[in-house]
Amino acid sequence: MMKNSILFLLFMLTSIFGNSCVAQQAKISKNLSLKDVYRDYFSIGVAVGPRNLVGDEAVLIKKQFNSITAENAMKMESLQPSEGKFYWRDADSIVNFAKRNNIKIRGHNLCWHEQVPNWFFIGDDGKQVTKEVLLQRLKTHISTVVKRYKGEVYAWDVVNEAIDDDPKKLMRNSKWYQILGEDFIVKAFEYAHEADPEAKLYYNDYNTERPEKRERIYKLLKGLVEKNVPVDGVGLQAHWSIYEPSEEELRTAIERYSSLGLKIQFTEVDLSIYPWEKTKRAKRTDEDDRFTEALEQKQMEKYAMAFKVFREFKSVITNVTFWNISDRYTWLDEYPVMGRKNYPLLFDTNLQPKKAFWKVVNFEK
Ligand code: GLA
Repeated sequence: MMKNSILFLLFMLTSIFGNSCVAQQAKISKNLSLKDVYRDYFSIGVAVGPRNLVGDEAVLIKKQFNSITAENAMKMESLQPSEGKFYWRDADSIVNFAKRNNIKIRGHNLCWHEQVPNWFFIGDDGKQVTKEVLLQRLKTHISTVVKRYKGEVYAWDVVNEAIDDDPKKLMRNSKWYQILGEDFIVKAFEYAHEADPEAKLYYNDYNTERPEKRERIYKLLKGLVEKNVPVDGVGLQAHWSIYEPSEEELRTAIERYSSLGLKIQFTEVDLSIYPWEKTKRAKRTDEDDRFTEALEQKQMEKYAMAFKVFREFKSVITNVTFWNISDRYTWLDEYPVMGRKNYPLLFDTNLQPKKAFWKVVNFEK
């Protein structure tokens, strides 16, 4: 009888103690945030629009992130839709939100072949402008924007996506390239550096881990470094999928770019549940866009791998930014397949952490 009571008491004690440990652990992990867990590694950012700065999304941003990027508000067409007429409201609201909440700001971007108004390239006579006129317009744009946010935006994507998709070509045949040649990249960096010598300047691109594109980007960057162009780092967009990159591809890319003495930022991280595609198309009737457990598992493994490698290379990686906040809204719902739902981020459509989130924040230090 006595023995039974002791056993019962022991059982009660372990279960109470055990449960409180589990409860304690759950409480601790419930409070985990990306920015705190990665404080000794790199800042963790998110791309936003002014609509995200209120309500439950704003609460999540403040809890999880310590860096912010404007999803669209700082692009050329948003800031200078017509010559000399700057529109600051949206960009300012993002900058002010960040300042109020002690969040760093990554500027995106100063020169790109998309989301750039056509007036840059056309003169009053309706013809294509000369090299001199275009350089002057580029300089005015970059100086005005960089000076406005001087001391507030700590890093800029100066040139976005200048390398062609075709492996046989180096430079993309954009209007910038057609009119200015490869020099437009050098000039863009010089103008940005002149406007804010303290700002860190990045070249930003996608598919940067695919070996053949990696080598073409490397070639461009090597040329810039050799010419003493004021480039501080390379932005690897990281619009990835559950299928790529492999651990080896990711590791090699980081090693290759950083061997030039450049810093690395992962600037637009998301992990699509579909293979990479670029050309816009309609959704096929046979396409299933459910986020199955098998997909969730694969996504969790890819995120875990990526962050393991990021941690390993913390001496060269200075920021990791997600492209959008949660699966509630992602640009990949529209692109490249209109209306096909995607689930590429760490928070679900209700802003709750997904399995991948727990893998990213729970690791051995
Ligand atoms: C590119 C650009 C970003 C954004 C995404 C899609 O990666 O760099 O600014 O437009 O495409 O949202």
